[in-house]
Order: sequence, then structure tokens, then C-alpha cells
Amino acid sequence: MLTVFENPLCATQWCHEQRDRNQTIGFVPTMGALHLGHLSLIKRSIAENDVTCVSIFVNPLQFNEASDYSSYPRDLKGDYRLLADAGCDMVFSGTNRDMFPETTSIDDVKLLDPGPAARGLEGDYRPGHLEGVCTVVERLFKFVGDCRAYFGVKDFQQTLVIQDLAGKLGYPTIRICETLRDTNGLALSSRNKLLSDAQFELAGNIFSALTQAKTLWQSGCRDCDQLRAAMYKTLSGALHIEYADIRDPHQWQAGSPDGTLDRAIALIAVRIDSVRLIDNLRLDDGL
Ligand code: PAF
Repeated sequence: MLTVFENPLCATQWCHEQRDRNQTIGFVPTMGALHLGHLSLIKRSIAENDVTCVSIFVNPLQFNEASDYSSYPRDLKGDYRLLADAGCDMVFSGTNRDMFPETTSIDDVKLLDPGPAARGLEGDYRPGHLEGVCTVVERLFKFVGDCRAYFGVKDFQQTLVIQDLAGKLGYPTIRICETLRDTNGLALSSRNKLLSDAQFELAGNIFSALTQAKTLWQSGCRDCDQLRAAMYKTLSGALHIEYADIRDPHQWQAGSPDGTLDRAIALIAVRIDSVRLIDNLRLDDGL
């Protein structure tokens, strides 16, 4: 049965009780508007832990545009139904005041430094975003305590920042899970709910561009300029490209001095009208 807490301190108490009973805890932090991608994280958590909890909090600190925050899909009742059906044990939410009790104004919350993984790409195009993610995730980790925490690789740069954060805190154990895709290859995301049918079709170009880069890589190309160019060519049309780039997934560098990489991940961020979408694909076969 799903236990619902609207105060994160109750969630902390619940987690203490679980650990006292030697139950391992899996934790899936979310901003709600749950879809099959979230459910796949929850399913993995249920398989790997005795109990699973989920947080739902639309974190104002990580939205660098007020309109993006206000239009972010919210459906708490629907989310609770999905979680109960999925077999999740506990879900908690909270107000801004619950999450950041030290201040009455969200603008006064002291942001954490997300570290070197926040440099470039999302760091450039969404100033303050990864700072906001890092700040809220630290709070969420503190509410839940030691556990296994599950994140989707779709937000690749976020996973790097969170792994660094968990390394600094000494907990939790982080599990990164693969991206689920729609019929046209579009990575599942809560923001997809904001796309019209035509925009959804257009958004399929993102995955086509990533697979173009992968095909080129598999044919032996290691030149970042050529890989980038192939993605830009596919991402034509009404998509506004913020970036289509290649990085070393471990060292988070853009290329060696000769512009090549031995390990690579292709990353894309586009806007379709006001909807911002990101995705990525590992080009080499490494983990
Ligand atoms: O990936 C998300 O949904 C959010 O960035 C997270 C990790 C729940 C923090 O608000």
C-alpha cells in the first residue's frame, strides 16, 4: 500500500523506521507528472530494494525561466494512482518552506556549487539550473538518508553532478538508468506532454541526429567536428538548436587537442517553440 506524506519530515521518520527494521531503501526523486520513464526507475528500485520511496517536488530553484516553472506539468493525484499501481511504498512532497525552511523567500536560498561537471552545455544554456538541482537533491538525500537513489541518464550532466554530490556526502549509492523512448525515438520526458502532434513528430529528429552520430562513430569517425556537423545536418527545420555536442563522458571534456575522442557521448538540447528538450546517446560501447 502506498503511504503518502505531504511533509518531508514524516518521510525521514518513515525511512528511519525502515532502516531500523533492516529494510533497504530505494529512492526515486522526481518533479512529478510521472511517465513510463519514471516508472522504469521505480520498477528497478523495487527489484533491487526492500522498500521504494519517491519524492515529488517541482523545484523552483532549477527553473531559470519563470514561464517554464509555471507551465511545468503537475498532476499529483494522477501520480499517486500510478505509484500505487506500480507497487511503490511511500511518496512524499513538500512546500518550498518544507524544502528550504531557512528562508521565507526562494531567492534567498544559498545555492550549492555543482562542481566541474556543471561547466558547459546545460551550465551555459541554463545558468543556475544545475546549482538548483544540486541544492534540492542534497536536501532530498538528507530527508531520505542512506539508500540507493535512481536517476535517468537522459539528464546526463545532472547525473554527473549528482554522482559528485553523493561522493561528497558519502551517500547514497547512485544508480543511473537507461532512457525510455517513444515510438519516434523521442526520449520520454514530462515536458513531452506540452508538445502538439506536429511538434512531437518534429522532436523525433533529435534521436535521428543522435543515431547519425553513432553510425558515423561506428564507421570509425572520431573527429568531434564531423560528428557535430552530422547532428546539425539532421536537426534542421523548425527546431531551434541550443547545442549538439560531443563530450568525453568520464572527463567531461570537449575533445583532445587534435579534436578527437576515444570515448564519446553525443548530447543535444533543442527548443520547439517554448518547449525545451534534451537527449543524449553514448557513441562508444563503454559504461
Ligand atoms: O530530474 C529531475 O526530475 C529533477 O532534476 C530532480 C532530480 C528530481 C531534482 O529536482
